[in-house]
Amino acid sequence: MPHQELVKKATASVMEENKRQDAGEWRLDYHITAPAFWINDPNGFCYYNGEYHLFYQHHPYSVNWDNMHWGHIKSKDLTYWEDLPVALAPSESYDKDGCFSGSAIEKDGRLYLFYTGNIWNGPDPDTDLKQTQCLAYSDDGITFTKYEHNPVISEAPEGDIDPAHFRDPKVWEEEGMYYCILGSKSKENIGQALLYKSADLLNWEYISIVAKGNGNMGYMWECPDLITVNGQDMIVMSPQGVKPEGDLYHNLHQAVYLPGHLEEGKEHFQFEHFELLDYGFDFYAPQTTLDVKGRRLIAGWMAMWESPMPEEKEQWTGAMTLPRELWMEQGRLYSFPVEELQALRQKQVFYHNVYINNSLQLDGINGKTLELRLTIDANKAGHFGLSFRGDGSGREQTTWSYDVNEQKAVLDRSLAGEGPVGVRKAKVPLRDGLMDLCIYIDSSSVEIFMQHGEVSMTARIYPKESSTAISFFSDNLVELVKVEKWDLKPSMTTRL
Ligand code: FRU
Repeated sequence: MPHQELVKKATASVMEENKRQDAGEWRLDYHITAPAFWINDPNGFCYYNGEYHLFYQHHPYSVNWDNMHWGHIKSKDLTYWEDLPVALAPSESYDKDGCFSGSAIEKDGRLYLFYTGNIWNGPDPDTDLKQTQCLAYSDDGITFTKYEHNPVISEAPEGDIDPAHFRDPKVWEEEGMYYCILGSKSKENIGQALLYKSADLLNWEYISIVAKGNGNMGYMWECPDLITVNGQDMIVMSPQGVKPEGDLYHNLHQAVYLPGHLEEGKEHFQFEHFELLDYGFDFYAPQTTLDVKGRRLIAGWMAMWESPMPEEKEQWTGAMTLPRELWMEQGRLYSFPVEELQALRQKQVFYHNVYINNSLQLDGINGKTLELRLTIDANKAGHFGLSFRGDGSGREQTTWSYDVNEQKAVLDRSLAGEGPVGVRKAKVPLRDGLMDLCIYIDSSSVEIFMQHGEVSMTARIYPKESSTAISFFSDNLVELVKVEKWDLKPSMTTRL
């Protein structure tokens, strides 16, 4: 079937399923999901003709990962989003088993999507695949035409490069030249990234294996992104197969950044180590974009491979994190939800200088979809925290807590409701004895930003709809210097 017909069919499938659905108890109010069915990685995050566009890996026929399409949504303000028809469907011999992850770039008013064409050529999905880099373009930002000379990169280069795993092109422009970084692995299963360049987006020249893991850095690097944040070069990427070390790397796969330096000539990226981008359970395959305001924005898939997704009973699976702004401060990468999201605030409840002595509930501080901002003076405490999405009895709740001696935050979803459980920990120091928290809670998610974005923790949680209690606890006197809470408006303005 021709591409446009497959796109129409996929869009109709999602639209019909969306019409059949009731507003499920876990359907997110202000996070991007597909109108129905499965999504994974963010793709093609960009600003085009005055609007933000986000595409995503999508299976428009079921709640499971399967033959990948690109779903599509846009926004004027990164807050209110409008669904658009499916953008890419597997339709050609070179992408018949999936239009895998990639990126978007504008050139001369035209929007170009770079994606990986996937083909299975045998029964083993680890070895029996062929991946090439392909291009589609649009002049209206909605209907995409596949380039007639696809693939634009038809083979992995020679060298210590596994020829099968070769995907996720991220393209950017620099001084009139285009560059593309790709996910790869070596023949000995070491994650690495490849760099290409092009003068016209159509003809690509291989430069080098620009970076390669050393030590516990995974067997495959997915979705690499080479950026500079406040003068600091870094590769953002998603390594598969990093082994747990102490409190770290307990998710199946990780999302990290490697601070380093891209050498003159761009052949080699020097780096020493990587750091997690988020210390929770559900943050993978993020992609960044530079927006018109000069901000470096990032969005990730708010889920994890092989994690149970109880929302499947509502006929949708997977979501995006809130768009976050990235910046460097004191040698660390900070991330914080974009300020535009404040437009969702309503019904503010405000307290200041209240004390937790053992336990505390505050009138009006509760809810299912909300933003909570806290400044906590922990000078006298050893251990304190709060639980949210609680049923009031302590049987169901999600807990954030802090150990002052260890300077560690703990996110515990063991009692969160249905779905995956567990604990994640992150080191984050108090500042002058203070902890600053910003917590975004949606119907089946939580994103916690500590110390103004120094550390974040993201999790999917599946409590009962009626579990809306918030309570504070401490082992000693703790002052809530400031408590601010807003209910948040739904912001997915059109469902198809
Ligand atoms: C990352 C990933 C990408 C791939 C896509 C397929 O989550 O595995 O490497 O392109 O998902 O959906």
